[in-house]
Amino acid sequence: MKKQVKIALMSNAGGSGKTTLAVNIGYELAHAGHFVCLFGFDPNASLTMFVGLDEPEPEQTLDRVLSKNFDGSWPAGVKGLKKSRPV
Ligand SMILES: Nc1ncnc2c1ncn2[C@@H]1O[C@H](COP(=O)(O)OP(=O)(O)OP(=O)(O)O)[C@@H](O)[C@H]1O
Ligand SMILES: [Mg+2]
Repeated sequence: MKKQVKIALMSNAGGSGKTTLAVNIGYELAHAGHFVCLFGFDPNASLTMFVGLDEPEPEQTLDRVLSKNFDGSWPAGVKGLKKSRPV
């Protein structure tokens, strides 16, 4: 199994370039031949949009998974994906 490296980019300061940095690090690593998976934990979903995807509904973001009343079913309402069973 290939070694996995996890990089977390965090800052309480808004607009300080977190998402821009994540996209560019991801791009460069992918360009160098690494498999890259980007997770955006910010409910503003800007990472999704920065990589050219449509703005998701709030229900389709990790914000739902992290909410207090999360029941284990996610993603919600995404065509072609099966809902996971509540745990
Ligand atoms: N190195 C840079 N030089 C100039 N502008 C930059 C740089 N990095 C990011 N920006 C610009 O600053 C703005 C904020 O960047 P970004 O959205 O990445 O910040 P953020 O920390 O993720 O913000 P938020 O807290 O709102 O999620 C964007 O308009 C982006 O294009
Ligand atoms: Mg951001």
